[in-house]
Amino acid sequence: MFDIAPNFGALLVFIEHRYTSADMLGYLTSTRALADFAILITSLKQNLSPVDAPVVVFGGSYGGMLASWFRLKYPHVAIGALASSAPILQFYDITPWSSFNDVVSQDFKSESLNCFSVIKAVWDVLDERGSNETGLLELSKNFRTCKTVHSVSRLGLWLRAAFTTTAMVDYPTPANFMMNLPAYPVKEMCKIIDTFPPGADVIDKAFAAASLYYNYTGDQKCFEVEGGDDPHALHGWGWQACTEMFMPMTVSNESMFPPSSFMPEKRSKGCFMFYGVRPRMHWITTQYGGHKIDKVLKRFGSNIIFSNGMRDPWSGGGVLKKISSSIIALVTEKGAHHLDLRSATKDDPDWVVEQRRQEVEIIHGWIDQYNKDIARM
Ligand SMILES: *[C@@H]1O[C@H](CO)[C@@H](O)[C@H](O)[C@H]1NC(C)=O
Ligand SMILES: *[C@@H]1O[C@H](CO)[C@@H](O)[C@H](O)[C@H]1NC(C)=O
Ligand SMILES: *[C@@H]1O[C@H](CO)[C@@H](O)[C@H](O)[C@H]1NC(C)=O
Repeated sequence: MFDIAPNFGALLVFIEHRYTSADMLGYLTSTRALADFAILITSLKQNLSPVDAPVVVFGGSYGGMLASWFRLKYPHVAIGALASSAPILQFYDITPWSSFNDVVSQDFKSESLNCFSVIKAVWDVLDERGSNETGLLELSKNFRTCKTVHSVSRLGLWLRAAFTTTAMVDYPTPANFMMNLPAYPVKEMCKIIDTFPPGADVIDKAFAAASLYYNYTGDQKCFEVEGGDDPHALHGWGWQACTEMFMPMTVSNESMFPPSSFMPEKRSKGCFMFYGVRPRMHWITTQYGGHKIDKVLKRFGSNIIFSNGMRDPWSGGGVLKKISSSIIALVTEKGAHHLDLRSATKDDPDWVVEQRRQEVEIIHGWIDQYNKDIARM
């Protein structure tokens, strides 16, 4: 957006989500966030520029959901929205529950079958070796943890987070979104796994691959696997996932992760223990819709771009098909999580350059139309 704002002569405004601190979580809802945006944008227009200046909202991931919902709830405030990698259909029973983990697995499988099989094999080995104190001590050494781990499940989560997040940020150029990573990090992880001699220990392979994620810069002395700080401020997201952003997820038998089914009671109990709240499973679809979205929005909404990259695990919950002449889906086969919103680089592949070009063209169209409509009034 930094890149295209001058092209539009636009004022670029980043609006924060309020109430993310632990003592204010009770106020942290998407409804309040959207209302905040509406009040701030309206006041900025009154203070800074002609009141009629068109506003387009942009967001990626959860921000993309907010952008699309904002356009639908506040059409008098924003003339359009670019919702990048916005999983607005990842709720209730709309999207298959295994879709997220299926895409992660497919990303790794598409690099090499060996890579996929090694990762699939590691979980049982981990559980077996971590079943007693001696094994846990040994594993702590294998994983170079700062302190001896108390439970093998932490190591599993640590590995899983590395593979999952790397699938999300599988960008075609070096990036530092969640972590510092090289271009195409999934391919790089699989190269690491595939270069081990046959018969090498799967734990060593999986650890080396995860190290690409946790230690690409080479500055880690040891790994903090049992909790610790929250550098990406995901605490607020944890609360939201326990209240309105409750997304059912499972792991299918075909995945490279241990299969698991959806256990709403278990999650609800966890939420109650951690935050003292219980999830409202149906609230998002009640408030913003989602079921039969194509039919509902076809004659109601307008001026929304839903962009998705199919290598992004969240793409399954996104809008992947055009809904109307102005509710457009821009889908790239290779893209990762909101790649289109990242700054352009000289190494960007043609398909993302083209995706961004289309976005700018469509937004110009919205603004031209809006200016014509205003002139006629
Ligand atoms: C710990 O578990 C491993 C793997 O199950 C087993 O081979 C080993 O004998 C166990 N060691 C102790 C001290 O129980
Ligand atoms: C991180 O990478 C550096 C450079 O390769 C290496 O010396 C160091 O041991 C790694 N840290 C851990 C905890 O593995
Ligand atoms: C997965 O495999 C298990 C064990 O073979 C089987 O009981 C279960 O029905 C399978 N689940 C699905 C969704 O296919």
